[in-house]
Amino acid sequence: MRVATFAAAALGAALLLAAPPLLARQSAAMPQAGKAVPDNLAEHTPPAQPIPYSHQTHLSLGLECGMCHTNPAPGNLMTFPATSVCMGCHNTVATDKPSIRKLATFAKSGQSIPWVRVYAVTKGVNWTHRKHLDAGMKCETCHGQVADMAAMSQATSVTSMGVCISCHKLNNAPTVCQTCHSWPANEQ
Ligand code: HEC
Ligand code: HEC
Ligand code: HEC
Ligand code: HEC
Ligand code: HEC
Repeated sequence: MRVATFAAAALGAALLLAAPPLLARQSAAMPQAGKAVPDNLAEHTPPAQPIPYSHQTHLSLGLECGMCHTNPAPGNLMTFPATSVCMGCHNTVATDKPSIRKLATFAKSGQSIPWVRVYAVTKGVNWTHRKHLDAGMKCETCHGQVADMAAMSQATSVTSMGVCISCHKLNNAPTVCQTCHSWPANEQ
């Protein structure tokens, strides 16, 4: 099964190789075939979340990603917002709604909200947001049109190896196995 996945990923990478480089693509109206991170064609139902948070509702208020998602050192992961960030508004906004009552209960208990994760790279694979953000990449390149999402789902196939590698090739980033894998050091 692994071999089949691997072959499919390699085929995907080969198809994407025919695409123009990322920078050239952005500067002109080029075909969608050059999209650095393809949409997720597999079924991607949004997971049920403890509170029905909508990016669409909140981004339409003009909020920036960085208000809720920061990238503290060493920079591998993005954070999720503290409940106090939500309560900055919801102490007074929509306080009668059941979802906001539930939010207030979390805030009072001091418990962080157990958000269900959407994107996850296979354990053991080296991943860092920081290097990608420092290289000028946009959140939307890898996570899709977040501002249109009433419920967050895995809209792109960014966590698959074929997609990592094809974007690295497009951008002349390293593609040797050790870039993302630490074998044989990690071998059991
Ligand atoms: C007001 C706070 C807030 C803002 C602003 C915000 N987010 Fe979020 N984001 C959340 C919360 C809460 C979650 C967890 C619930 C969910 O998945 O919808 C989340 C989840 C996500 C996830 C899924 C992470 C995972 O793998 O589980 C991504 C990706 C994401 N946000 C991207 C963005 C981007 C890109 C922007 C800016 C365009 C943005 N967010 C703006 C609060 C925010
Ligand atoms: C080059 C692709 C790429 C870019 C650019 C990117 N992300 Fe991610 N993001 C990922 C991947 C891959 C994961 C899953 C990582 C993991 O397993 O922890 C992820 C996970 C997340 C998570 C869940 C927490 C975490 O770090 O695992 C949040 C929240 C998130 N991204 C928000 C953002 C925001 C906000 C931006 C823009 C500031 C952004 N991402 C830019 C690929 C990207
Ligand atoms: C800048 C202010 C602001 C922040 C910060 C904010 N919200 Fe909101 N939120 C709003 C507004 C405005 C609405 C729309 C209220 C309405 O339609 O009555 C809303 C609506 C909601 C709703 C839908 C309520 C309903 O049932 O109609 C939920 C759930 C929610 N927010 C959760 C959150 C969570 C969770 C956070 C933190 C991650 C958060 N909000 C942060 C302003 C904010
Ligand atoms: C949208 C394009 C894009 C995607 C998708 C992408 N990368 Fe990258 N990645 C880059 C670029 C460009 C660099 C080089 C940044 C620089 O010059 O420092 C990089 C750098 C890295 C580095 C640091 C390499 C080093 O030695 O400095 C790691 C690790 C990495 N990527 C892992 C991943 C993994 C794992 C995935 C998939 C889950 C992934 N990347 C997806 C474009 C991408
Ligand atoms: C740019 C990052 C990147 C590079 C370079 C890379 N991989 Fe991967 N690899 C991944 C990611 C991400 C996964 C997890 C994919 C998934 O979950 O679908 C993975 C998974 C695998 C797996 C499945 C087993 C596991 O670790 O879970 C094998 C085997 C593998 N890669 C072999 C290789 C080999 C051999 C090379 C060098 C020719 C290589 N990879 C180069 C990102 C990379």
